[in-house]
Amino acid sequence: MTQRMTRRAFCAGAAAVVAARPAWSAEPDVLTARPASVQLAPAGYPETAIWGYDGLLPGPAVRACQGERISRRLVNELPVPTSVHWHGIRIDNGMDGVAGLTQDAVPPGGSFDYDFAVPDAGTYWYHAHANSMEQVARGLAGALIVEEPAPPDVDWDEVLLLDDWLLDPETGSFAEPMAHPMMMSHAGRTGNLLGTNGRPDLSIPARRHERLRLRLINTANARIFVLRLEGLEGWQVALDGMPLEAPEPVTTELVLAPAQRIDLLVDITADSGETAALLRLDDDDAWRPQVTLPVSGRESRTRRGIPDPLPPNPSTDQPDLTGARRLDMVMEGGAMSGMRSARYQGEELGFRALAAQGQYWALAGQAGLAETPFARLSRGEPLRLNIDNRTVFPHAMHLHGMHFRTVAPDGTQGPLRDTVLSLPGEPMEIAFTADNPGKWLFHCHMLGHAASGMTTWIDVT
Ligand code: C2O
Ligand code: CU
Repeated sequence: MTQRMTRRAFCAGAAAVVAARPAWSAEPDVLTARPASVQLAPAGYPETAIWGYDGLLPGPAVRACQGERISRRLVNELPVPTSVHWHGIRIDNGMDGVAGLTQDAVPPGGSFDYDFAVPDAGTYWYHAHANSMEQVARGLAGALIVEEPAPPDVDWDEVLLLDDWLLDPETGSFAEPMAHPMMMSHAGRTGNLLGTNGRPDLSIPARRHERLRLRLINTANARIFVLRLEGLEGWQVALDGMPLEAPEPVTTELVLAPAQRIDLLVDITADSGETAALLRLDDDDAWRPQVTLPVSGRESRTRRGIPDPLPPNPSTDQPDLTGARRLDMVMEGGAMSGMRSARYQGEELGFRALAAQGQYWALAGQAGLAETPFARLSRGEPLRLNIDNRTVFPHAMHLHGMHFRTVAPDGTQGPLRDTVLSLPGEPMEIAFTADNPGKWLFHCHMLGHAASGMTTWIDVT
């Protein structure tokens, strides 16, 4: 995945595209979901049987210039039905890839043609959206990168998919079952092997004073990554693909919930012979390297100054909230707090009956996808949504098709996001303008939670 090459001017104009079109842009038009075997566990362990796009883990990076179209024929060579969701793209609803809501799942041996415009530059990703708890855990995810016409001045650009895998230590296979009640009702399927771009020990050589763009993508099923920079000075320049108004110096830990992205610009400040690193906080409270950057050779140049912001994406103004509708969404369920009852498939069921159906969570009193949406919005309507997490777990809440902003108690709006981490006992408000027509999911991106109740949808007409 390391592509140490200059892609300045790649998206700047047609002539430049022809002249500078490097090999990685010769993408196949076909994306085949298929079984494969890869060396995921450290050397010495057996290979792991995965499901991967084009047999790779992670899948091949899908790249386009801002404003272009992306076309891919999904060919399903898996033994199960599947679909692809293009996470974070403000997409035509019919291309959103949600099996059971925006399309039928593609049966084994079948195919589906995805074709959509990418209005926003930034760091996105794609993943299976049919039984996604299992399919993403088996490897069906990859990066989706939309290039700015004028990318920032960096020496190189690195896409880093942070993930974890729950493997059977004896065999190196994914630990079975892929899902069970304990995972669903607690924190989800968290792995015992952590890594980046399908490797437990990703290491990227660097030189002092180089400036890198790091595109961090959390593709894990349930793990929240807490990260720190070592031997690097960095700025956050985009969240969930969307540029920040001003680069924010990284002075503390970065929190990357499942499905979230952070674009960083980092300068290598470590000396030759030292190792810079992206560190993560592990469950035992120790900081360990997630990615290492051994520094060697001469300084690449003198240091650059504070970076400029990335150019803003189109029509991403703050929603006008005067007189906006307000809705409440209580989140309940899960281990150690539970819930009395919830609606499921048109019936009000008690906790035991819900559990018997594999449902442990509810959003606004509803477990699982209902026939009717949580809200019907008219196109262009602003909405304020109050999310009240009455569970004892954090949840990474994701809205399809549109980005939203958090709203502070004083009315200040935060940066655009497509996934926000909701903490127990800390109600939060989000707001957005419903400017993209269609049926859009709103769900927890801890995929075990999504599969066991925390999935709802809104209808924009
Ligand atoms: Cu990235 Cu509905 O998901
Ligand atoms: Cu959750």
